[in-house]
Amino acid sequence: MAILFHSPWDNADQWLAALRAALPKDEIRVWPDVGARSEIDFAMVWQIPPGVLAGFPNLLGIASLGAGVDALVADPDLPRNIPITRLVDPLMADRMAEYVCATVLHYHLGLDIYQEQQERAHWQRHQTTDAPGRTIALLGLGQMGQRCAHHLGGLGFDLLGWSRRAKEITGVRCSHGLSRLHQVLASADIAVLLLPLTVETTNLMDRAAISAMAPGSYLINCSRGEIVVEDDLIAALDGGHLAGATLDAFRAEPLAPDHPLWRHPKIRITPHIASLSAPATAALILAEQVHQARNHRLRQDLVVIDDGY
Ligand code: GLV
Repeated sequence: MAILFHSPWDNADQWLAALRAALPKDEIRVWPDVGARSEIDFAMVWQIPPGVLAGFPNLLGIASLGAGVDALVADPDLPRNIPITRLVDPLMADRMAEYVCATVLHYHLGLDIYQEQQERAHWQRHQTTDAPGRTIALLGLGQMGQRCAHHLGGLGFDLLGWSRRAKEITGVRCSHGLSRLHQVLASADIAVLLLPLTVETTNLMDRAAISAMAPGSYLINCSRGEIVVEDDLIAALDGGHLAGATLDAFRAEPLAPDHPLWRHPKIRITPHIASLSAPATAALILAEQVHQARNHRLRQDLVVIDDGY
């Protein structure tokens, strides 16, 4: 049997080399050059065009090459009777935690303020706040959120967590459900979005939620652009309610050169790099998934299509 591969990213060659090393007996066929579709029993995909996966009659499993599966789940023709997996790679969680720590520390230490002062050659010290006096809210407490909590906790920050369902995490004051969201946001100096994109999280950070954030607080979005209503964010920054935002994900990517977010003085932008998939480690995880799917034992990291993640 053979494996279907699709990724529009520029590192497809790295992926193929890693996958061929991890699955030396398998033929890996790159969409759309796939030969007989009936010979393909497993698919590993990122942003495959909608409808394509429905054309493979013998699939035993579909694996996402990324942590987020929103694009996959949005395919109306996605086969619903076979296991679909999210990529849950500890290395990606570490990468996310590094990004979140760096960004939180940037605001915590006032580096955004000093950067602005440097532009004016202005020497002024500001009072410091120590990490235990700074509350960080992690919205989304999956593998990545928990890893961020671990690292931020190690730095001494005061941690709040918010998720859809109840969670218990040592060192994190956890709340769940929409009714608690505004309260969590109101109590945090920095809110970090680590949520999957679902029907429920689309536009979650709208005017009401952003207004609920503490005055002078910061927003960091490491999940999906659709979770934040951009106009409401810009209005909160312009009006002085929020002090700044770091965005790694956008509604339309790549972000258009003339998009106002690029040039906003209180917004920092990175091109969706907070937690890149790592082909070398992911290939080992995916090879194990292929093995399990062929033995009808694929049970870990499964996507619940109705939940959207
Ligand atoms: C990246 O955004 C991912 O979902 O892995």
